[in-house]
Amino acid sequence: MGLFVSFEGTEGSGKSTQLALLAKRVADHGHEVISLREPGGTPIGEEIRHLLKHSAANAGMCPETELLLMNASRAQLVREVIRPALAEGKAVLCDRFFDSTLAYQVFGRCLDGTLAQRIIDYAIGDTLPDLTLLLRVPLEVSEARRAGRNSGVRDRMEEENRAFFLRVEQGYDAIASNTATRVRTIDATQTVEQVAEEIWKWVAPLITVPTAQGDRAWKTVGEYRNEAPG
Ligand code: TMP
Repeated sequence: MGLFVSFEGTEGSGKSTQLALLAKRVADHGHEVISLREPGGTPIGEEIRHLLKHSAANAGMCPETELLLMNASRAQLVREVIRPALAEGKAVLCDRFFDSTLAYQVFGRCLDGTLAQRIIDYAIGDTLPDLTLLLRVPLEVSEARRAGRNSGVRDRMEEENRAFFLRVEQGYDAIASNTATRVRTIDATQTVEQVAEEIWKWVAPLITVPTAQGDRAWKTVGEYRNEAPG
């Protein structure tokens, strides 16, 4: 059984940088790591990603289509990559997973939460992250970082107004408070090194050294939580 960690947060929260740092650190501990992003991560998912973000034809995309496309990409990623990798004992690190749908489509686009959850459930089945790292920065920081990294490539999601991103922030607040045991919230206004150390504090205990008897290489979050302190 492998380890599945998702990264969440608004644009410019440093997810990609931290994911790359964590991937290196986990690999340095002798584990095979797969780094993914959503939407995307498979040939089909990357085409869906283009459609959602950059395609010249996407200006009139309605929120319902957006919800379904995000989850179409997710359904493919789960079956084509994540499940096989976990079955082989690999560590899967994913830049965004289903919490993004709750933050962006349910809170941001004001779609029905119960319906969205059913669509998410259909896409992921029982494939849930062991740990979700939620990197938080204030909206102003996110806006400044987004403006600063403007690549010149049009991005439909990033064209949204401030009210939309405020609702997305509120969505992440709700996620952090509802599922506190899976989701660990990290102050991403700290330095890159400080954030990386905090992330490692959560991930390191999930990694155990495989024994000669061929035990699993990972503890489940449940096992870790149930252990006596010390
Ligand atoms: P990013 O990879 O640069 O973060 O771009 C992905 C964009 O897609 C970002 O604006 C968040 C958005 N998104 C959703 O709206 N819903 C989702 O379920 C996912 C995975 C991403």
